[in-house]
Amino acid sequence: MVDINIGNAKKNITEKGFLDIEIDVNIDLFAEIEKLKKEKNAIILAHYYQEPDIQDVADYIGDSLGLAQKAAATNADIIVFAGVHFMAETAKILNPGKKVLLPDLKAGCSLSDSAPPALFKQFKDKHPDHIVITYINCSAGMKALSDIICTSSNAQKIVESLPADQKIIFAPDRNLGAYINKKTGRNMLLWNGACMVHEIFSQEKLTKLKIRHPHAKVIAHPECEAPVLALADFIGSTTGLLKYAQNSDANEFIVVTETGILHQMQKSSPGKTFIPAPPNNSCACNDCPYMKLNTLEKLYLCMKYEVPEIVMEESLRIAAKKPIDKMLEISAKYGL
Ligand code: 13P
Ligand code: SF4
Repeated sequence: MVDINIGNAKKNITEKGFLDIEIDVNIDLFAEIEKLKKEKNAIILAHYYQEPDIQDVADYIGDSLGLAQKAAATNADIIVFAGVHFMAETAKILNPGKKVLLPDLKAGCSLSDSAPPALFKQFKDKHPDHIVITYINCSAGMKALSDIICTSSNAQKIVESLPADQKIIFAPDRNLGAYINKKTGRNMLLWNGACMVHEIFSQEKLTKLKIRHPHAKVIAHPECEAPVLALADFIGSTTGLLKYAQNSDANEFIVVTETGILHQMQKSSPGKTFIPAPPNNSCACNDCPYMKLNTLEKLYLCMKYEVPEIVMEESLRIAAKKPIDKMLEISAKYGL
């Protein structure tokens, strides 16, 4: 780590989750970040839910599967993960020898929080004849208790890769699990977790929006609840939604996921109209409060001073890596 000779720097990383020091307003953050990337052989991996400025300086933007695959393949010395904690942790699990940085350590995930490993272990122990498939949105502790990790873009294929009579526990997202049960005809046991962002889309508001935009295609993420998914023309991961919008003949889309994805949708299909679906509150669109903790300023500081860094106990890392490797192996087999 580069020495930080600034008063309470270390203390404020612990308390606030990021390095809270003043940045000269006259510097060009975009140019400085590009310079730091070259100097340090660093790569910036960003999720589609990051703010547009961060997406614009990233070397790779993707969904959870794409980001894990990119993290597994990179030869950069430093991985700067512009996403949430479980994503950066996954990159570290795959790259013990590399430095993995997260601009704000408090960028967590409500879905990951909904599955505390100690509670889940009790549940798992009651069903010893079940295989555990766990959505990547979980802690390293949960991954260590799992047989196979999946993401929203490979969950169906991973479930279908197992014999039809194999008993399965699916955690932590009950909505994705129910959707995969419906698609595959399986009866997986579901952990009762959910994403706070996707749970608050409103069936009623979406119905009203559809009436106002009768030609719009409704595209939704499978973390949404079943009554919302029932209104969708297409259901997929963030990459799946982006590709569908690019390839569709339609000109108008109602997008039922976190609003960060609209930046790439608008960039790749400038002539099309993307309408964010409203949540069931007074807001017009739906942001993930964790994803949006990262800012361009925090990204710059984290690259300059190489903090906050993801650190992990080696025994936990090894146990958490096995089910991720299994996921990458199955995904490669199916060309995902
Ligand atoms: P994907 O990008 O894999 O679809 O996941 C969405 C999400 O909620 C990430 O936190
Ligand atoms: Fe977690 Fe939901 Fe935010 Fe994704 S959108 S990081 S699942 S809280």
